[in-house]
This record gives sequence, C-alpha cells and structure tokens, in this order.
Amino acid sequence: MNGLADYPHLDQIVSAILGAWPEHEMFARKSIDGRSPEVLRSSDQIAGLILRLALHAHGGLEGLCEDYRFLCEAIVLPEELHFRRHGRYRLSTLEEAAREVYANGPFMERYMNGLLLSGVMWSNHAQALDQYLREYLPSLASGADHLEIGPGHGLLLYLAASRPGIGSVTAWDVSPTSIANTRAALDVLGVRRPVDLVLKDLFDTSGAEPPRLYDSIVLSEVLEHLEQPVRALEAIKGWLKPGGRVWVNVPANSPAPDHLFLVDSADHACELVKAAGLEVEHATAFPMTGTTIEKATRRKLAISCVVTGLRRG
Ligand SMILES: C[S@@+](CC[C@H](N)C(=O)[O-])C[C@H]1O[C@@H](n2cnc3c(N)ncnc32)[C@H](O)[C@@H]1O
Repeated sequence: MNGLADYPHLDQIVSAILGAWPEHEMFARKSIDGRSPEVLRSSDQIAGLILRLALHAHGGLEGLCEDYRFLCEAIVLPEELHFRRHGRYRLSTLEEAAREVYANGPFMERYMNGLLLSGVMWSNHAQALDQYLREYLPSLASGADHLEIGPGHGLLLYLAASRPGIGSVTAWDVSPTSIANTRAALDVLGVRRPVDLVLKDLFDTSGAEPPRLYDSIVLSEVLEHLEQPVRALEAIKGWLKPGGRVWVNVPANSPAPDHLFLVDSADHACELVKAAGLEVEHATAFPMTGTTIEKATRRKLAISCVVTGLRRG
C-alpha cells in the first residue's frame, strides 16, 4: 500500500491482509491515512512483534490474517447489527459470555489472534497502543511492580515485561486460552525475566493471603466484559499502592459477543474511574477508523477511551 515504505513491518501485514481480502482496502487506507508519523512508527514496532509471533503461530501470518477477517466479519459484524437495531449489547451476564466465548477454546484463539492484528489495523486500537507505548510505560518509575488483568494475546504484557527498569510483572486472566497465548507470546518474543501468569477471575478473592500491592495496573479491553465495572475498579484501587496508577483502555459503543457493559462515551469512561474513588490523571479518546470524536459520540460509534486513574492516598 502507498505511504508505508518507511514502515516495512506494517506494510507486510497490511499487504498480507489485503492479498487475501482486497475488499478491505478502503478501510485500511482510511486507517493508515488517519495516523501521525509517531503513531505509524509505534504501529510498525507492534507489527514487527506480530510478525515474530506469526512465525510460531499455527497457520503463520496467513492464519492470523484469516482470524482478523473472522473477527471483523463473523465476530463483530453480527453484534454490530444487533447493537444498531436494539441499542444495547446482546449478552449481559458473565455466565452467558463464559458459556459462549471463554469456554470455547478454538473460538477464543481466533478472537485473540484477530484482536492482535486489530492493534495495527484499526486506527483507534493503534492510537491507544501508541499512548501505552510512548506515554504510559515510560512514565513508570524504575522498579515498578506491574500487574495486567486480562492480557489476552499478551502483547501489552510483553511491552511492559521488556522494559529494562520494570520491577515485577504479574498477569491474571480468567481464560486458559489467554493464559496459554500470553505464555507463548512471552516465550517467542524472548522475555527472560520471571513473569507470574495466574488463571484467575479478578473478582475471585478466595486467596487466603493479603493481596499484593502494585504501582501499575493495566486493564485493556476488559472493563466492557464485566457486569460490574465500578466494583472491579474499586478492587483495583485496593490493589494499588498510594500513588499507583491504573491504565484503563475501554471501548465505547463497541459490540462483541463477550461485551456486557455498555460504555457510551469517553465521559462515561472517566465517570466509571471516578466512581471507584480514583483520580483521573489523564484521559484521551480515539474514534474508530474514518470518523471524528464528535461524530462518533453523536452516532454512538466505537471510541477507544484511554483513562489513567491515580490512587491518591
Ligand atoms: C478482549 S481481551 C483483551 C486483550 C488485551 N488486553 C487487549 O487489550 O487487546 C479480554 C481479556 O480479558 C479476560 N477477562 C475477561 N473477564 C475477566 C475477569 N473477570 N478476570 C480476569 N480476566 C478477564 C479475557 O479472558 C480476555 O483474555
């Protein structure tokens, strides 16, 4: 695709997707044209990691591209039609989502693979990742204890674990497929430090020991999967050290089979963080490919809302 000569990894992924799915070209064009050179550089870095993961993926890059198309056409589109017709997400309980999605290993695998590629193909996902990479991670103090809840494909966790100054790195996920994918991603990308991966529902407080406290907690594309997002953020506040921060990335108006809680604007995302007793330190909103934040808010189109919440005392 024109304009990607300086971003060879991104070019390789976009070319592989369009080779098998030429009808996606107009979307890809809009998505690339809407990014600054800095965001394109971050996308190229992420694309380089995805290409390394593809070497070990079942089906290689071609398989990942098929899973990306599956995400767009078979996972998101039917839910989008339901959302447009009824103004709400189709499922509302964790029990339903666990049955339909989390317990279905092969489906979950394709879903997480598709999501991995959306990080470079959808401009709102690419911009949220750029913010994480260029602003949030560099702001962590040396020796920071870091927890990610719901790492899914493991890419964000890898980016944290590969930072030289990071202290400890832990992740919890409720899905065995996500834990396995995250472990595989860390191994393939060559993370040497110990990373504690735990199969765990964030609401499960059955552990006898007092919880560990963290300087940094990441919750990316997870809040919308929960029935009670404020309860989760309140729990997260309790796992933060005073002065610790949570990086929340939550999509508004973004239907998917396991999305239960509808956030309908960037302001709504900030309200959730505040309702949990956290201070909003920073908030940004990235509208879906090909639209503006005003239009996306008015028409209830997808917006990636990135909010950094601070625990003051
Ligand atoms: C859509 S993926 C997000 C992957 C990645 N963080 C990203 O930003 O692309 C959501 C992840 O959250 C996990 N998850 C959902 N509910 C959870 C819960 N209650 N406790 C822990 N993990 C949960 C899912 O299993 C899945 O791996």
